[in-house]
Formats: sequence, C-alpha cells, structure tokens
Amino acid sequence: MTSMTSNKKLLEWVKSMAELCEPDAIHWCDGSQEEYDRLCDLMVKQGTFIKLNEEKRPNSYLCRSHPDDVARVEDRTFICTRRPEDAGPTNNWVDPVEMKATLTKLFKGSMRGRTMYVIPFSMGPLGSDIAHIGVELTDSPYVVVNMRIMTRMGKAVLDVLGDDGDFVPCLHSVGAPLKPGEKDVPWPCNPQHKYIVHFPEEKAIWSYGSGYGGNALLGKKCFALRIASYMGREQGWRSEHMLIVGFESPEGEKTYVAAAFPSACGKTNLAMLIPPEHYRKQGWKVWTVGDDIAWIKPGKDGRLYAINPEAGFFGVAPGTSMESNRNAMLSIRAKSIFTNCALTPDGDVWWEGMTEEPPEKLIDWRGQEWTPDCGRPAAHPNARFTAPISQCPVVDPAWDDPQGVPISAFIFGGRRAHNVPLVFEAYNWGHGVYLGATMGSETTAAAAGAVGRVRRDPFAMLPFAGYHMGDYFAHWLSMRKRVADPPRFFHVNWFRKNDEGKIVWPGFGDNMRVMKWIVDRCHGRVGAVETPLGWMPKPGDLDLEGLTDFTAEDLEWVQSIDREDWKKEAHEQDELFIRLYDRLPKDLLFERELLISRL
Ligand code: GTP
Ligand code: SPV
Ligand code: MN
Repeated sequence: MTSMTSNKKLLEWVKSMAELCEPDAIHWCDGSQEEYDRLCDLMVKQGTFIKLNEEKRPNSYLCRSHPDDVARVEDRTFICTRRPEDAGPTNNWVDPVEMKATLTKLFKGSMRGRTMYVIPFSMGPLGSDIAHIGVELTDSPYVVVNMRIMTRMGKAVLDVLGDDGDFVPCLHSVGAPLKPGEKDVPWPCNPQHKYIVHFPEEKAIWSYGSGYGGNALLGKKCFALRIASYMGREQGWRSEHMLIVGFESPEGEKTYVAAAFPSACGKTNLAMLIPPEHYRKQGWKVWTVGDDIAWIKPGKDGRLYAINPEAGFFGVAPGTSMESNRNAMLSIRAKSIFTNCALTPDGDVWWEGMTEEPPEKLIDWRGQEWTPDCGRPAAHPNARFTAPISQCPVVDPAWDDPQGVPISAFIFGGRRAHNVPLVFEAYNWGHGVYLGATMGSETTAAAAGAVGRVRRDPFAMLPFAGYHMGDYFAHWLSMRKRVADPPRFFHVNWFRKNDEGKIVWPGFGDNMRVMKWIVDRCHGRVGAVETPLGWMPKPGDLDLEGLTDFTAEDLEWVQSIDREDWKKEAHEQDELFIRLYDRLPKDLLFERELLISRL
C-alpha cells in the first residue's frame, strides 16, 4: 500500500481503522476517470452494476439495492453529544462512550474479504474558505463512484489538506464481512444492525450496515447537514436543507433564493425550473446553483451568501420527465448512476411518470419481470439518479464560485394537502423564523417508514439537525444581527388538494409565476395584502396568463384561509414547541400569540 499523503492525523487514523475493520486491501482513491471506470467494471463483473445501452445512455449504470436497504433510516440515526440535552428531543441520542463501544464491536473485522477505500473529499470548492474536507473510509465501491460524482474527490483534496490540515473522519461499512472463499452478493448490507452515528463534539461520523444514499454517502446528510449544522453554530454560519436557484430578469438582474422543502417535496424541480413560454419569450432565465444543501455565511457587504457544498445531484427519479423536469432529464442523459430504477428491454432505465404510457415490458427494481398490469411499481418510489451538476443545462456560472451567491429570499414549503395556501410572505425576520420552525409536511419515501402522514419538519431539518432544535431556532434568530441587508421570508405549498383529492395548483414550471411575485417583492416592485398568515399577492398580481386549467377562482381557493382550521394548526404546532420548551426561544411563542390574535 502506498499512500498519497504525509498528513499524520490521516495516516494514523487510516491505520487504526484498518486494524479495527481488517480489510483485505486498502485503496487510496485518486479520483481519476480511470479509477472510476475500473470500479464500475468491477461492479459489473460482480453483478452490482448493469451497464446501460451505450447509444441510449452513454457511460451509465443501473444498480439494484437490497429490497430492505432503499432509503434513509431515521430511527437508526443518532446524534451522540456528551449530554443528551444538547442533541435535543427530536434526535436519537446514546452516550458517545457507550455508542463507540457498540460500534467498535460491530466494526471489528467488518471489512474482511473486502477492500477499504480511502476517499478524500471536499464539500465546497477546493480550497475555498467556506469549504471543508472530509475523508470517508468505506468497503463499498458503489459509495466510491457515487462520491466521485457528488463531491470534489481524490488526490487534489489531499494536496489541499497538506501535512497538517484537518478533516472530518467518516467511517462506513456495509457490515457484511466475507468468510474466506465466500461468494459476494450484488448489494451487501447488514439486515440486523444499522447505525448512522454522529459525534458532533468530536466531528466524526460512523455509519454501519447500509449502503444506500444518505446512510452511506457520508459527505451529504451526515457531514454537510448534521455535522456542518453543528460547526455552523460554533462558527457563525448555517448549513441548511435548501436548494439554491437564480432568477435572471430580461434586464439581466439576477435574484438568488434558497428554499427549504423536506425530502422528495420538489427541491430538484424548483432548482432547475423551466418557466412558462411567455416568460422565456420575455427573456427570463433560471439558473441552478444547488438542489439539496446550502451553506450560508454573512458576507462583508451585509448580505448572506450561499454555496452548494455538493458537486452532483442525488435526485428522486419517479415523477421526473421531459414535461415535469426537462433539465433534470438532460442532466442524466449520460455519465450517470441509476439506483432502483426499472430496466427497459433495450437497456435503458424507466420509472413511474417518465412517460405517459409505461413500456409493455420491463425488469423492475427487484430484478423481476414487470408488465403494466402486474400491480407492482416498476421503480422503487425512492429510486434515485446520481449525476454531475456540471451536466445540468442551466447550471449557474457561479455554482462553483468560492464566494457563493447573495441570497434575497428564504422560502419554506412542504407537502400539505389541506389548509396551507399557495404563497404568503412573513412580516419580518422573526416571523420568518417562526414559519420555518412550524413547517409541516407529509412524509415521503425518502425515509423508511409510513408515507403520507403530516409531521412537523422545522426548516426541513428534522432528520438533519446535529443539535437541539430549540438552539437551532435561536441560531436562526441570532443571525439577524449579523446581516445588514436581510433576505425576506416566504412560505409556499404546491400540493393543496380539493375535495376530489386533486392537487389544484399546476406546479412545476408554473411555479415560476409564484417565484416572479417573490422576486418582485424582494425588489419592492409589487404590493401585497395583509392577512392573518402574512402578506399575500393582491388580486391580479399573481400572473395567470396562459393557464387553461386554473382560474382566478382557483387562485382565490388555493389562497384561502380557514380560521378554524388554522386555530387547530396552531395547536398542532404547540406539540413540538412544548417538546422543545426548555430551549425554545420565547420570540417564537410571541409569534404564535400574534398569529392566534390575528386569527
Ligand atoms: P430530496 O432529494 O429527497 O431532498 O428531495 P427534493 O426536494 O429534491 O425532491 P424532488 O424535487 O426530487 O421531488 C420529487 C417529487 O416531487 C416528485 O414526485 C415530483 O413529481 C414532485 N414535485 C416536484 N415539484 C412539484 C410541483 O410543483 N407540484 C407537484 N404536484 N409535485 C411536484
Ligand atoms: C433526502 O432524503 O433528503 C435526500 C436523499 O436528499 S438522501 O441522500 O438519501 O438523504
Ligand atoms: Mn435532501
């Protein structure tokens, strides 16, 4: 084994983890194309990857996971601070010493028969002072190739790290050691034990037993959200579950917004939205900076600046089509990895919603023959694509800028069939933080468990905050003092349903109409009416031009507020507030009082 670094902390850590996990070999990832291709070939030989049709989907692969390892496991995710009250009541907590003992037993010999890959990666542009370096040790080649797309990865990161640079150690094992001579399975994982564990004080991550998504690609949720949220509180910045998108007016004025929606609630769609035709004719353009995570820092000019710490998309496949998200479809036309999608007879991928008519025959995500009438979904609802952000046709020229982009608005939203209007604006920063803190959304297939239940998901960070949610709210409130030119706050809901259970707002590209109002508000170009919930568009100010299936009456309906239902809503918000009570900033209780009095 020759290593590519003389960083002492790194060399010592790799050595001691190799002694613990006992891999057959250690491979230091250089991040080259050659290495990527070699690992993909290896996985094709092992039956983990299927090479897709080179004509239809060049340099791309399909992967099928174990049917029990298909999403994040929130009930197996732990924040191990020394004191339980620092993790707070919304996180699972175990004493760090006890957890280390449990994990050390599990990791002992866990990589036998496998290679340990050393993955140096940077979250954020290499060498940027907002960026941070991590090193993931994993026994999964699937993780290596995904991390190469999702992060800046390889030798160049070690060069930036240097001899004494610091990094976040991320240890990962699928938890499936091989006995001598034992044949491997296409998707090794551990059926009994899964642990996604964070030690915020030590800034370390240990993940065991799962190979899927946020459980295993440790740069994403574990580092860029849970550990980074903790670092951000110490250091005066923020990490958020937010997309970042820029709207360019016909005059060339660019307005960037960041939006927090829970998992599988439309961040990818809004991040690369294609406006309706009349906007495009006028010269409106939309630019993608990121679709999942934002790191946000006050800039010298008094504004807030955001970077996307990632370099790729790990996007929800079902529902993605040339109609719903053309830019995503174009981003995945080549050099992409597809996990738990269906396979077409000509060697391409398919999922529910990709085409209006399903193909007559497919191989489903479990590898079984599938026909449209068989009663099973062809792709898993949390099937995902992995693709470099550089392949997005509307990637913002500033997406890789170490300075980030200035944020004019924060937008919160969830999947709410009832009560919640299409759009309203907060009265001020404190009210905006209250809107984020009281967000609710129906659960989706992005996490294991029941789907469609409304839960409080403050700032879309319930599964991702690395510390007490009450402290998290306080940090949000305190940021106000550090920005002279604050963004505005908005709340949106694309998902309100009528009595027949149909979503009334057309959504997708038509969300541009709402974004246009938001952009105009940011520049003080349009008025608004005061309502109990916040500012709303004046009748006629929300553009409905060219909509055939959505009338001014429909708009009135999606904007309507039922005061009785909202009093119930205020009660439901209280449940979370009471759980967080000992660290809940009193400002939020006052905001709630104000809302009730307005109702
Ligand atoms: P994560 O990657 O899990 O954090 O989620 P995300 O927020 O990026 O999710 P994504 O954008 O991939 O959301 C996927 C689902 O939302 C798909 O089922 C889409 O069809 C649906 N969706 C996105 N935008 C809209 C919209 O404007 N209206 C409606 N009705 N559905 C939408
Ligand atoms: C999410 O669940 O919010 C995701 C996908 O973005 S995963 O990386 O699996 O967490
Ligand atoms: Mn996400």
